[in-house]
Amino acid sequence: MDQAENLRKLVQQNNSQIARPVARVITVTSGKGGVGKSSLAVNLAIDFARLGKKVIIFDADFGLANIEIMLGIRPPYNLADLMFRGKNLEDIIVEGPEGIGFISGGSGIQELTMLSREQIIYLTQKLFQLDKLADLIIIDTGAGIADSVLEFVAASSEVLLVVTPEPTSITDAYALLKTLNRKSEFSIKNSKIRVVANRIAQPSEGPELFEKLSIVSEKFLDIPLEYLGSIPQDPNSSKSILQQQPISVLFPNSPSAKAITGLAEKICNIDTGTVAEKKGMAQLFSNLIKSRHRKKTQR
Ligand SMILES: Nc1ncnc2c1ncn2[C@@H]1O[C@H](COP(=O)(O)OP(=O)(O)O)[C@@H](O)[C@H]1O
Ligand SMILES: [Mg+2]
Repeated sequence: MDQAENLRKLVQQNNSQIARPVARVITVTSGKGGVGKSSLAVNLAIDFARLGKKVIIFDADFGLANIEIMLGIRPPYNLADLMFRGKNLEDIIVEGPEGIGFISGGSGIQELTMLSREQIIYLTQKLFQLDKLADLIIIDTGAGIADSVLEFVAASSEVLLVVTPEPTSITDAYALLKTLNRKSEFSIKNSKIRVVANRIAQPSEGPELFEKLSIVSEKFLDIPLEYLGSIPQDPNSSKSILQQQPISVLFPNSPSAKAITGLAEKICNIDTGTVAEKKGMAQLFSNLIKSRHRKKTQR
């Protein structure tokens, strides 16, 4: 039995033992950088917390410490410390506004292929604990068609794809979907992709952007997309980043904060029964590790 097989068994065993449903995991991504992924992730998390949910944000954007800056907190440890240096979940989860939890992936995500069997088992057990701690886990990814981003998207059952009215935003989102579609581990049956139009100038712009993207996505890639909603262009957004506090804390009545609250409510009202396949963080990481192993053995 290889490592991936072992891991699958472990996940199956644990899944059958879980009485309470595992955390719902939502991955935020985009084709292009700087479209508002991290802002959306952070403010959604705060809204979910206000709706009474236990929320954890997982920062999987290896390059930039975006969320750390937005929340004005620096976690002393990250996922790699849990994987390799014996840290526990409580050591790597820091508390943010409204009691949201924040975990930094650090170099842990890149190092997933370097885990020994014992380390995989340890990580999986910790992720099962995490699944029990949270109702919702929001994963913030980097932008674009980098393998590390697409792997996360392919392994996720719920994806938020952020686009803006900038000319290249739609073509970059399309490029991401196209590359995603070529990945053997991606199946639209297992992933629901919902589009969020950010920084729009007028209400009609959101549905227009969505139409453009969803027509080509369905026609050429056979990937159906759903429209979640839009967020207006809002000058308070950059102010809140400068002050290192989320907009829903600093300016909860600003147009973009209100729009994000509406999106959070919409997400909470979605019946997740149909996307149960890959739910939970342990399952997601199991998918990730499996696809990395497959790649390694193919080389
Ligand atoms: N609705 C909005 N209105 C105005 N500016 C926004 C909005 N959403 C995001 N921004 C700005 O865009 C920049 C990039 O946002 P960020 O969340 O870091 O994007 P990403 O994570 O996709 O790189 C930030 O300066 C942020 O203030
Ligand atoms: Mg970001």
